[in-house]
Amino acid sequence: MSNDGVNEGRRRFLTAATSVVGAVGAVGVAVPFVGSWNPSAKAKAAGAPVRANVSKLEPGQMIVVEWRGKPVYIVRRTEETLQSLPGMADQLRDPESIEQQQPAYAQNEHRSIKPEFLVLLGLCTHLGCAPMYRPDVGAQDLGGDEWLGGFFCPCHGSKFDLAGRVYKGVPAPINLEVPPYTFETDSVVLIGVDQEA
Ligand code: FES
Repeated sequence: MSNDGVNEGRRRFLTAATSVVGAVGAVGVAVPFVGSWNPSAKAKAAGAPVRANVSKLEPGQMIVVEWRGKPVYIVRRTEETLQSLPGMADQLRDPESIEQQQPAYAQNEHRSIKPEFLVLLGLCTHLGCAPMYRPDVGAQDLGGDEWLGGFFCPCHGSKFDLAGRVYKGVPAPINLEVPPYTFETDSVVLIGVDQEA
């Protein structure tokens, strides 16, 4: 029974990860799945931190890395996105990130260490599907003019903005989780290690 659960979870993850690539490809942005620059499988299973190089990430692009068997999304937000975040509050359930879904150093209006880079666990807070990256502003299927880009969960329709904050009126109860992370250098994110205070 538990094996089924694991396999099901894995399948959902892989399916959704594929969907992410497909969705982003549709708007002309590549989403590489970064997985090779990591510790051994044994170390990963034990929860070792993983690194991601974000130096080649263009504004609007996302990469996915795997940490502890979970997808971690890293998005380089555009200037337009950063400017739009404060105006989203009325549509969101927890715009101030009151719920403990992020480390203290990411409890700010961008939910991140550097405003430009968003780092999120790619697991919907409803039942754990992987939300799709939908940066396409004005997408008709997601609300038209009111959609300023974000994440859409294909399982039951939850929506999140480009800070991972959940919309009102969707099944997911809380914002997407921000994992512990730090910047090892200006262009290398280390996931699984808290930023030093
Ligand atoms: S798992 Fe995402 S909406 Fe249900």
